[in-house]
Amino acid sequence: MATKKLTTLCSFLATVSAGVVGFENEIYHESMVTVRASPNIALIKYWGKRDQILMLPHHSSISITLDGDNEVLYGDKNIKLFTTTSVLISNRLTHDELYINEELITSDDQSAHGLFRAIKILRDIADSREKMLIVSENLFPTAAGLASSASGIAALVFAVSMALKLDLSSRQLSIIARMGSGSASRSVIGGVVRWNSGLRDDGSDSFAQQIYSPNYWPEIVDLIAIVSLEEKKTSSRDGMAATVKSSGLYKERVRGVDERLQDLENAFREQNLAKLAKIVMIESNNMHATMLDTIEDLNRDTGSVIAGYTFDAGPNAHIITVKKYVGIITDRLSKIEGIKTLIMAGVGEGPRLLDSSDSLINREVLKPRDPSRAGALYTL
Ligand code: PMV
Repeated sequence: MATKKLTTLCSFLATVSAGVVGFENEIYHESMVTVRASPNIALIKYWGKRDQILMLPHHSSISITLDGDNEVLYGDKNIKLFTTTSVLISNRLTHDELYINEELITSDDQSAHGLFRAIKILRDIADSREKMLIVSENLFPTAAGLASSASGIAALVFAVSMALKLDLSSRQLSIIARMGSGSASRSVIGGVVRWNSGLRDDGSDSFAQQIYSPNYWPEIVDLIAIVSLEEKKTSSRDGMAATVKSSGLYKERVRGVDERLQDLENAFREQNLAKLAKIVMIESNNMHATMLDTIEDLNRDTGSVIAGYTFDAGPNAHIITVKKYVGIITDRLSKIEGIKTLIMAGVGEGPRLLDSSDSLINREVLKPRDPSRAGALYTL
């Protein structure tokens, strides 16, 4: 099923790509290119697929492609928002090799699945089996929510297509990048970019297009406040699949997204910051609300369900578990800064009558029996 879908996609792309140019006949059949691509920040987010194989989203999204010649206002001056990728295709190579950030990546590396997929599609279109050496470097932290997969895959698709001398349109590049990672479909294009979800089952109408050029509103900037460079624990792929599966709010999100897409386009057209700021916050909150409404993966570290949380109107967590797991959970919670006290309470009885010895009243003097004790009831 998966192979059939990919074969159909490749033949679709091959028929619309007229300009496949052959290698020049030199001593060595060699071609080398180096490209650079930047991440994008989605202002209307892509979150959830209707087709896992063809990476077709449930709804459209809009992003701005970021300028890799960014300025660092303070902090680590070395961060540059782009991926540089070099591809060498040569008949001197005996096997394929892919390096990302100086590490040799193999095809069984799950996180590079999308890259290998995109390379396969491009090779099939070019009908090439020549070996490739691909070296890719991010000048910013990988997988920390800065969309490294978008720039990484966009750079790779662009570089490999150039090295294979494929003359692909931005629409074709976007479709192939989409097969590597959804958000990458937008990073092969500059400016303000809209990825239309499309309606067709074969994904041929699901690609990104520029809606405003980078110069349309030159004043607009994205100030990125980096608080952590740690890799996120759940990939977007797994997170969105869990949301689609388990969130009741998700249907509501999909229902409202078309209006937000339109409002955002209008905000850009009018260059209206107040409108834009409001829509991007509503949208961000909306996506995060569906994430909060996602109940998969909570107990991923332990491999089975050992506890669930519930919050009332205040900030204190109640963790519902059974006694045999209290040790593991206490151990875990004790490492979280900010938890001052941990109380364990079982399921209790209703009101009950206590002995007169427990009375808080000194009947002789008609006063509280022990004021310090009474006070202790209210001081934690
Ligand atoms: O394309 P992925 O698998 O990296 O998912 C991207 C998801 C978000 O970054 C959260 C939103 C988006 O549209 O870029």
